[in-house]
Amino acid sequence: MNIENLSFENKTGIITGAARGIGKAIAAQFVNMGGRAVIVDVNEEQAKETAQELGNAVAYAVDLGDTDAVKTVFNQIIADMGKVDVLINNAGIVNTTEFGELTLEEWDKVLAVDLTAPFLTCQILFNHMKDNGGGRIVNIASVAGKVGGGFLGTAAYGAAKAGLISLTKSVAKAGSAYNVYCNSLCPSYTKTPMVTILQGEREAKVLDQINLHRPASPDEMANSILFLASDAASFVQGENLNCDGGLLMNG
Ligand SMILES: NC(=O)c1ccc[n+]([C@@H]2O[C@H](COP(=O)([O-])OP(=O)(O)OC[C@H]3O[C@@H](n4cnc5c(N)ncnc54)[C@H](O)[C@@H]3O)[C@@H](O)[C@H]2O)c1
Repeated sequence: MNIENLSFENKTGIITGAARGIGKAIAAQFVNMGGRAVIVDVNEEQAKETAQELGNAVAYAVDLGDTDAVKTVFNQIIADMGKVDVLINNAGIVNTTEFGELTLEEWDKVLAVDLTAPFLTCQILFNHMKDNGGGRIVNIASVAGKVGGGFLGTAAYGAAKAGLISLTKSVAKAGSAYNVYCNSLCPSYTKTPMVTILQGEREAKVLDQINLHRPASPDEMANSILFLASDAASFVQGENLNCDGGLLMNG
C-alpha cells in the first residue's frame, strides 16, 4: 500500500483511552478512513458518547489497572469482533509526585495502567494476530520515557513509558515471523484534558523547549500514529517515532 491509498477499509481497530483526547482523535480518523473502532475506556459514559458520535464504533468499559478485567474484556472483544487488525495502546495516566515523596502505591498504579495493561493487551492481540495472518500494534509512550520524566509525569510515568518503548521492541521481535508489527510513538505536549494544568508561565516554559514553540493538536498525533498502524508502514518494525515538535530530535 502506498501512502496515497491509506485506508482502514474492512479493518477493526481497538484503541484504548479513546473516549477523549489523543485516543478520540485516533478513533475518529480510523473511522473516517473506513475502519471500525473499538473504544476501550474506564469512562463508560464518555466512551459510549464518543462511539455514538463517531458512528462505526463500539465502546467497552474497563479499568486497565485491573488485570483480570483486562483479560476478560479483551478476549470478549475478540470473540465479538471475530478478527481484530489493529491495536493502539493509547490510554495512560500521569503522576506528578516528586521522586522523594513518590509512594509505592502511586508507582504501582501508574505502572499497572501505563505498562502492565499494554503488556497484557499486546500479548492477547499478538496471539490473535499470529493466528489470523498478522496485524499492527502501536504503543503510545512519551518523551518522558526517554528523559527520566516529562513536563508533568515524574519517575513512575517516565519508567512506565521507557518500559513501553522496550516492550514494543520485544513484541516486534516476536511478531516479525507472523506479520505482526509493533511500533511506538512519543508525543510531547499535546492539547488534551490530561495537560490542562499546564497554564501561563508553566506552559510558556514547556513551549520554550519545543522547537516548533507550540503544542500539538490530538489530530497531529493521530496522523503519525495511524501511519504506523497502516500497511504504508510495511518496513517499519520495532521503531519509536518522536512526534514532539523537535523537542528531542532523535534523542
Ligand atoms: N497530552 C500530552 O501532552 C501527552 C504527552 C506525552 C504522552 N501522552 C500520552 O498520550 C496518551 C493519551 O494521552 P491524552 O493526553 O489523550 O490523555 P487524556 O487524559 O486526555 O485521555 C486519556 C484517556 O484514557 C482513559 N483512561 C485513563 N485511565 C484509564 C484506565 N485505568 N483504564 C481505561 N482507560 C483509562 C481516560 O478515561 C481518557 O479517556 C497517554 O498514554 C499519554 O501518556 C500525552
